[in-house]
Amino acid sequence: MELEAARLRVAELTQEITKANQAYYALDNPSIPDAEYDRLFHELKTLETQYPALRTAFSPSQRVGAPPLKAFGEVSHFIPMLSLDNAFTQEDLWAFDKRIKDRLKTDKPLVYCCEPKYDGIAVSLLYEHGILVRGATRGDGSVGEDITQNVRTIRSIPLKLNGSAWPERLEVRGEIYMTKTGFAALNEQARKNGEKLFVNPRNAAAGSLRQLDSRITQARLLFMCAYSVGLVEGGAIADEHFALLNQLNSWGFSTSSEITVAENIQACWDYYQHIMQKRSQLPFDIDGVVFKINSAQLQQQLGFVSRAPRWAIAHKFPAQEEITRLLDVDFQVGRTGTITPVARLEPIFVGGVTVSNATLHNKDEIMRLGVCVGDSVVVRRAGDVIPQIVSVVLERRPDSVKPIVFPSLCPACGSTLREDETDVAIRCPAGTLCVAQNKEAIKHYASRTAMDIEGLGEKLVEQLVDSGLVKTIADIYFLSVDRVAGLERMGEKSAENLIAAIQTSKKTTLARFLYALGIREVGQATAVNLANYFKTVAVLQTATFDELQKVADIGPVVAQNIAEYFQEDKNKKLIENLLDAGINWPEIAANSLAAPLSGQTWVLTGALTQLTREEAKERLQALGAKVAGSVSAKTHCVVAGEAAGSKLVKAQELNIQILNEHELLEVLNNAMV
Ligand code: IVH
Repeated sequence: MELEAARLRVAELTQEITKANQAYYALDNPSIPDAEYDRLFHELKTLETQYPALRTAFSPSQRVGAPPLKAFGEVSHFIPMLSLDNAFTQEDLWAFDKRIKDRLKTDKPLVYCCEPKYDGIAVSLLYEHGILVRGATRGDGSVGEDITQNVRTIRSIPLKLNGSAWPERLEVRGEIYMTKTGFAALNEQARKNGEKLFVNPRNAAAGSLRQLDSRITQARLLFMCAYSVGLVEGGAIADEHFALLNQLNSWGFSTSSEITVAENIQACWDYYQHIMQKRSQLPFDIDGVVFKINSAQLQQQLGFVSRAPRWAIAHKFPAQEEITRLLDVDFQVGRTGTITPVARLEPIFVGGVTVSNATLHNKDEIMRLGVCVGDSVVVRRAGDVIPQIVSVVLERRPDSVKPIVFPSLCPACGSTLREDETDVAIRCPAGTLCVAQNKEAIKHYASRTAMDIEGLGEKLVEQLVDSGLVKTIADIYFLSVDRVAGLERMGEKSAENLIAAIQTSKKTTLARFLYALGIREVGQATAVNLANYFKTVAVLQTATFDELQKVADIGPVVAQNIAEYFQEDKNKKLIENLLDAGINWPEIAANSLAAPLSGQTWVLTGALTQLTREEAKERLQALGAKVAGSVSAKTHCVVAGEAAGSKLVKAQELNIQILNEHELLEVLNNAMV
């Protein structure tokens, strides 16, 4: 690039980054994803290195964050709060290791302390004689905001340090964050109140922390993880970083349970892979890992350059948020007729995969986002979660955008759509007469947690319905090898396997069968309750509205759905046909215990991935178990998800049965009596 072109680009980048900084730091409302920010920043730094004359004193590369908000008092940091350099690839990581070795003139392996990189807000906490006297944000690195009143409300921050071996003046630094579930609950509440939603847990944490009224901060569930120290006076601290973190822990700070020491850079790389695997199961957001030279003496020797230490690096994970363009919106019909707008996107690599579709949920969500076809949107994909559109980049809106028009007729069957008064959904009222709903009903019926017909997946259901071989669920049982083998991409062998799987699946349980019917709002737990209570389909079919409400966890709405379902002739006929086809289950003895886990107390701990805590609790309760919050000698079983902590330890001490999530699912599925 020529100097003049570079000058223009530097000016452009400076403006964009300054704007993004303000949105992020001062307004807690980021305008572009981190990955985009990192790219702009990297480009600016590269240009400034290439053309040092273009580096101005006000360049964003010359500072860490944004100036403090005037509303809070100012705090001058004794020692600047710096940022970290980033590594994105294995090469970057090895180059970092080599830079240090070159500087130290050594070729011996370097020892690192490895930590998760929490995605929250940096905080500085000053303790005098073991008492918390001041809390501050990073601000621009040298001057931050005084948030003492607010940090005092955070329970994981000690107001007074444990023990007595701490230095007289000690500044502890760390990250304040909100858990994923805390964030979801906060946004759910905001949605109900018609308030503005937070974009992600980090912004929610930032917004909660910078409240002028500390009672608001207190009401938000914030946590703090300590990761380093600043000022140390009148006392000594450990001379290795790993030991320092343990020391902080012993003084009452929460530190990450994922910290480890790596004996060389290869071990750092392994750690990175390991934590990346765990990322989606952790109860909080992390955006990478941090490697720090473990020896404090070597850290000192290496020192700092501009805004970051030479002895540490943030190894970032692939971005979970990226910018792409919304090309179009399709409307999909779900099993219960709900119309879901689906965004068709310009394919984008995000969260480790290429994404070209994202859900837009419903009409309200489209309005909330204010999104149009042609917009640049921020797409988020975290773990196995369906990609979401989190915001619109209004600064990049072209003139040619078109509003999204919600259809008035069902895109699959042409019926007039209805707005549901009870929720925000718009539905096609045609039930299984609507081809799309019928297909979804059949897919659900055959699915693993319902009738578990192996091989009868999404594609095959489409083919069977489109070819006219299957019109209702019951037709599945009249398929023959010959007919199925005639379908496209279906061999004789696959057809035989499918027919065999259909035969095998006939032997089931009443709960599975009821769940498979797809009655609105009858999930697995309700199906188990219904089966336990009524014991036969015949009795259930004739149950009155009042009687249905006697079943555990069934209220008037669900009772109404169930009663309506069994009143319809079409459904009566369907059940008759299915039973004629030979579906059977072991009889539930009249005197059997209503619930196989009754009398047992279970405890759930750690993060589950396949189902939410609440679902797990409901399903265990449906089987008769009591679900308690703490482990005691009376506990029957502890389910330990990822990052399980003290409850797991206690269960081990008390020798209580411990199941992992996989084993829990097995119990739940097998117990669908
Ligand atoms: S050490 C001088 N360790 O990441 C070293 N930072 O991108 C200062 N962060 O400003 C930082 N987890 O807010 C360190 N385990 C960790 C961290 C961590 C998250 C944040 C911190 C820092 C930013 C740099």
